[in-house]
Amino acid sequence: MCAKVVKSQPKKVATTGHVWDGIEELNNPMPRWWVWIFYLCILFAIGYSVAYPAWPMLTRATPGLLQASTRADVQAEIDRFDAANAPMKAQLVATDLTMVGQDVTLNSYALKAGKAVFNINCVQCHGREGGGSKARGYPTLSDNEWLYGGDLDAIHTTITHGIRNTSDPDARNFGLVMPAWSERALAGPLADAATAKLTAEQIGEVVNFVFKLSGQTADDAKALAGAQLFADNCAACHGEDGKGNRDLGAPGLTDAIWLFGGDEAALTATIAAGRGGVMPPWGFAPEGGLARLSEDQIRAVTLYVHSLGGGE
Ligand code: HEC
Ligand code: HEC
Repeated sequence: MCAKVVKSQPKKVATTGHVWDGIEELNNPMPRWWVWIFYLCILFAIGYSVAYPAWPMLTRATPGLLQASTRADVQAEIDRFDAANAPMKAQLVATDLTMVGQDVTLNSYALKAGKAVFNINCVQCHGREGGGSKARGYPTLSDNEWLYGGDLDAIHTTITHGIRNTSDPDARNFGLVMPAWSERALAGPLADAATAKLTAEQIGEVVNFVFKLSGQTADDAKALAGAQLFADNCAACHGEDGKGNRDLGAPGLTDAIWLFGGDEAALTATIAAGRGGVMPPWGFAPEGGLARLSEDQIRAVTLYVHSLGGGE
C-alpha cells in the first residue's frame, strides 16, 4: 500500500563533519558575489558612521567627520533667503503703507509675503483668504463690513495690537464689550458688563427691531416696542440708525453680515449674554519677549488683508 516516494538525490556536497541523529550538516558556502556585497556593506557602514552623524549619545549623536547636519543646511538656506529679502523688508518698513501700491516689485513682494504670514497665523480664525470661519465670532476679512475700519492704517493697528486681549494695553476695545442684558447673564462670563436691564420679553422685542433694521421679517408690534428700547439702550454704541460705530467696534446691524449670527436664537443669545471677541496682538512684545510678527510681516499681512476685496 505504500506509495513510492522518490527522493531527489542531493548532489555530492562536502559536509562540515557535524552529525546529529544521523543528519549531516552540508557545507554549502554563500555565493562569492553575495559575500563580497556583504563585506562592502560592512565597510560602507563603518565609513558612514565615521563620516556622518551615527551613534546616539546622551544628548545628541556623534557628529561625524564631515560635520553634516540637515538642520544646519536648512538654517543656512533660511539665512540666505532672509539676506536676499532684507533690502525688500527694509524698504517695506520705510515706505508709507498707502504708497506701497505704486511700487510694483515691492507690492508684489508684500502681497506674497503677507499671504504666507496669513496662511500661517490667521487662517485658523479668519478662514482661507479671510473668507470667514464656520465658528461664530471670527469676522470675514474679504467683505466691506469692518468692525474697526478697512483702510490700511486701521487694519495695521488692529493687527499690531489685537482686540480685547489682556496682554497689549493698546489693544482695541480694551475693556469694552457688548454688554449682557438679561438677568441670567449676571452669573455668566460677562457678568461685569451685565446690566440686567431687559426682561426676556423686552429682549424679544429688541430682537424684532434688529430684524427690521437688517431687512428680515419681523413682528411689527414687537419691533415698535423694540425701537424705543433700542434708542434707549443700544443706540449709544450701535448708532441711532444701527449702522454701528467703529471707534467702539460696535458692528452695523443693518445688513446681512453677522459676526455671531442674525437669526432669532443667535440674536437673543448675543443680546442676553453679551459678546466680547478677542484677537491676539501681533506686534506687541511682552517684557523680555518677542512680538509674534515683525513690523515688515505685519505690514505685508496688512497689505494682503487690504487686498482681499474689502479694502477701503
Ligand atoms: C485666535 C483667533 C484669531 C487669530 C489667530 C487672528 N484673529 Fe483677527 N480677529 C479675531 C477676532 C475674534 C476678531 C473680532 C474681534 C471682535 O469681535 O471685535 C478679529 C478681528 C480682526 C480684524 C478686524 C476686522 C474688522 O472688521 O475690523 C482684522 C483686520 C484681523 N482680525 C486680522 C487678523 C490677521 C491679519 C491675523 C493674522 C496675523 C489675525 N487676525 C489672526 C480672531 C483672530
Ligand atoms: C457699550 C456699547 C454697546 C451697547 C450699549 C450695545 N452694544 Fe451691541 N455690540 C457692542 C459691541 C462692541 C459688539 C461687538 C462685540 C464683538 O465684536 O465681540 C456688539 C455686538 C452686537 C451684536 C452682534 C452683531 C453681529 O454682527 O453678530 C448685536 C446683535 C448687538 N450688539 C445688539 C445690541 C443691542 C440690541 C443692544 C441694546 C440692547 C446693544 N447691542 C447694546 C457694543 C454695544
